[in-house]
Amino acid sequence: MAAAPDAASMLGTVPFFSNLDVKKRKSLVSQGKEMTFKAGDAVVREGSLGVGFYLILDGKAEVRKGERVLATLGRGQFFGEMSLIDELPRSADVIALSPTKCWALTSWAFAGLVKTNPEIALQMLKEMVKRLRAAQSSPTS
Ligand code: CMP
Repeated sequence: MAAAPDAASMLGTVPFFSNLDVKKRKSLVSQGKEMTFKAGDAVVREGSLGVGFYLILDGKAEVRKGERVLATLGRGQFFGEMSLIDELPRSADVIALSPTKCWALTSWAFAGLVKTNPEIALQMLKEMVKRLRAAQSSPTS
């Protein structure tokens, strides 16, 4: 039977982390943990206090605010960064649409990640700007 890929090599296939060398990725992996969710599980609840940052390794999740779907996120995309950055409650629900595997980091490990890896902070800013532009152009916003 083929061995399951370890989390460090899985993170290497995610564009967000692919620029990091193996040593950095391994040290990063040891700071987070893999979490799995069933379809329909709420990974994040609007209004709750944020303690985790999530990167989707496999599966799909929907970002919802009440009845409104703000985005569908898949492999290699992240969520949960907003509450960790501004220390305010979660801005939306994030619900798994299928069995979903995430790599999760605590708020303090997340702070260390963005402080010590400016290229990751920049990638994250780019994605956040993309989401802001999409929200601006949404007819329901
Ligand atoms: P946070 O507020 O911590 O928890 C809910 C998460 O949903 C939020 O962080 C973002 O990661 C994500 N999110 C909120 N609004 C949007 C949006 N318009 N598009 C994509 N993702 C979003």
